[in-house]
Amino acid sequence: MARDKKLIVANWKMNFTVQEASLFIHKLSSEVKSHRDVEVVLAPTMLALQSLSLQVDRRQFKLASQNLYWRDHGAFTGEVSATQLRGIVDYAIIGHSERRHVFKENDKEIRNKVQAAVRNGIKPILCVGETARDRSEGETLDVIHDQLVGGLANVTSEELEDVVVAYEPVWAIGTGKNAAPLDAKKAASAIRRQVAHLYGKAAADNLRILYGGSVTADSALSYLKTEGIDGLLVGGASLSVPSFAAIAESAHKLEDE
Ligand code: 13P
Repeated sequence: MARDKKLIVANWKMNFTVQEASLFIHKLSSEVKSHRDVEVVLAPTMLALQSLSLQVDRRQFKLASQNLYWRDHGAFTGEVSATQLRGIVDYAIIGHSERRHVFKENDKEIRNKVQAAVRNGIKPILCVGETARDRSEGETLDVIHDQLVGGLANVTSEELEDVVVAYEPVWAIGTGKNAAPLDAKKAASAIRRQVAHLYGKAAADNLRILYGGSVTADSALSYLKTEGIDGLLVGGASLSVPSFAAIAESAHKLEDE
């Protein structure tokens, strides 16, 4: 079952040149052991994916794209499709809050991207999460509900097996104000309830849910120990070899306990 493994994802966003990304992975590879029950995934700049796919040992690291376009090919200047990413990445981050808020992606585009990923054998990591304002208005669970329903429409129960959901409260991203593990737990159980409603309890029990938002080497373990949280989506703390290696190590420790 997919949930037996912890999933640790580094989202490097628009950081590192191709050479820097390659050097980072070279250093990281001597710090992070391969572990049967931990999957470590790196999401570098799109530009580096092809060369890194030749560099990495997939038993140690898998690659993710930070985005993709939902059409398979055609006149879409500047875009990269899931068909083009097929074979290069195992995962794709879809609907990240920066895509939603900076680039104004809506649920329809996000759902098309989720579909494009699964159609092309790429596992989508669908990101959901409320803004500070949603939170202060008590709308966290409604927002998560709408983003889940919007993002998963058209996904069959068979396809759902490859989908990962990341709970990333927007107010926690890059702010140093991480959500309390208890809040992450509540959000994860709301996500699972909603998925149970849409796909049944077995599908919900099998769904991997990540937490993301100001995770550090110090806080990683507290989330990984939280019921219902199957891994982490890490931004800032994934940009340093020692801190990201320590986060991956937390997952190893937990699995060895
Ligand atoms: P930070 O870890 O920098 O808060 O970023 C989280 C994130 O957006 C990962 O996708």
